[in-house]
Amino acid sequence: MPNSIVVGAQWGDEGKGKVVDILSSKADMIVRYQGGNNAGHTLVVKGIKTVVHLIPSGILHPGKICLIGNGVVVDPVVFFEEVDTLRAAGVLADNPEKRIRLSTHANVILPVHRQLDKLREEKASGGKGEIGTTVRGIGPAYEDKIARRGIHLCDLLQPELLREKLGRLMEEKSVIIKTHFGSEPPTVDELFEFCAKYGERLRPFIGDVRVELMNAKRAGKSILFEGAQGALLDIDHGTYPYVTSSNTVSSAAMTGTGMPPRMIDEIYGIAKAYVTRVGTGPFPTEIEKTDPELAKGLRAKGDEYGATTGRPRRIGWLDLVALKYAAEVNGMTQIALTKVDVLTGLKKVKICTSYRLDGRQITDVPPSVQDWERSEPVYEELDGWEEFDSSLVRTKADFPKALSDYVSRVEEFVGVRVTQVGIGPGREETIEIG
Ligand code: GDP
Ligand code: IMO
Ligand code: MG
Repeated sequence: MPNSIVVGAQWGDEGKGKVVDILSSKADMIVRYQGGNNAGHTLVVKGIKTVVHLIPSGILHPGKICLIGNGVVVDPVVFFEEVDTLRAAGVLADNPEKRIRLSTHANVILPVHRQLDKLREEKASGGKGEIGTTVRGIGPAYEDKIARRGIHLCDLLQPELLREKLGRLMEEKSVIIKTHFGSEPPTVDELFEFCAKYGERLRPFIGDVRVELMNAKRAGKSILFEGAQGALLDIDHGTYPYVTSSNTVSSAAMTGTGMPPRMIDEIYGIAKAYVTRVGTGPFPTEIEKTDPELAKGLRAKGDEYGATTGRPRRIGWLDLVALKYAAEVNGMTQIALTKVDVLTGLKKVKICTSYRLDGRQITDVPPSVQDWERSEPVYEELDGWEEFDSSLVRTKADFPKALSDYVSRVEEFVGVRVTQVGIGPGREETIEIG
């Protein structure tokens, strides 16, 4: 059984959850390695929709172990909300701690992190500094991790150490919240109470995820690493500063779990047949600018509203310059192209194969985000495809010719095989063509 990584190839919401759900049937363990509950991964099985934000998307498969690695930031409130929702839906039995493990070294998202995220977004609203975050406290929690004053999950179980660490964490933050934002910070006592309460509830879930994974690897079990967000939201490789606060590319699967890179067999890049983005930042192929009616139609047909915040997603044509870049940065071995059904019925579909910048044509994404913002897309126009009976489609040869050509053009341009094509949100609506 292979060990695989699933990553988002664009700006998130490509359909990673759905692909992870499908691949989970062949995996023994599914592990999240970065991000937090800024993610929203949608699974549709037998018409029932489940959205997970923190717990891995393998959770619907009975008996599969779902892990949260050290690279993730964990909001305990959200974790228990999710556990409760899954239990109520009959997905988790009475002892969820048998199926879910959280790394001792995952960092905790505290209420003060959420508060800071919100204060910053409000202050920056409408200005250059506005990122349009999910306001889940992700950025501030990662800041504390990098500043070496973060709270690890295992710290929640050590009261004396916890109080001392919280004191250190709040030293600068209290001043900033009071003087810069004119708001009221929580006291160390309040945070301590919060942490102690959740620490006790979390105790049965906390463990050495790295050791658990390593034992599984030694036993020849198959591990599936589930990425969140997408390559273009990566803190180093994305459209900085309009990005999230973690590395989202495949190499983060290793740092975010402590597992070695050489164990990886496959890296799946998940890409929509068009592109979407929530939040601000460069988006060269955005359709809104040229054809707002079409953007509106695709948003409605693709149900393009954030799974976490409900915000309308910005819509664009498939950007192959950016996809090729994402394929390189992630080392993708396969691509799953999702949501081709949303483009069905269009007479013509466009794909961006280069940018025009200051009169020059370029085929690599510009290193400067300001240049990326100014880049004009250069499109190839391909024939669209008519409605087709999805129940008759088993291989690429069964696709309408124009869809088949579209998929081939993506493969040819990016240099990576497209092995799965999504023709609907349901688990069974993914066609394996590789
Ligand atoms: P993720 O964050 O990458 O897991 O993606 P999201 O769940 O946020 O957004 C993807 C949306 O598209 C969800 O509503 C999915 O149910 C839906 N979806 C996934 N694949 C397909 C597909 O092939 N066709 C259609 N129509 N919807 C899909
Ligand atoms: P999944 O895993 C789409 C975006 C936010 C914002 C930026 C920073 O479902 O694909 P943050 O709260 O992370 O500090 O916000 O990143 N963003 C996502 N966009 N899908 C996601 O996750 C996202 N997670 C964060 O909209 O632009
Ligand atoms: Mg999502």
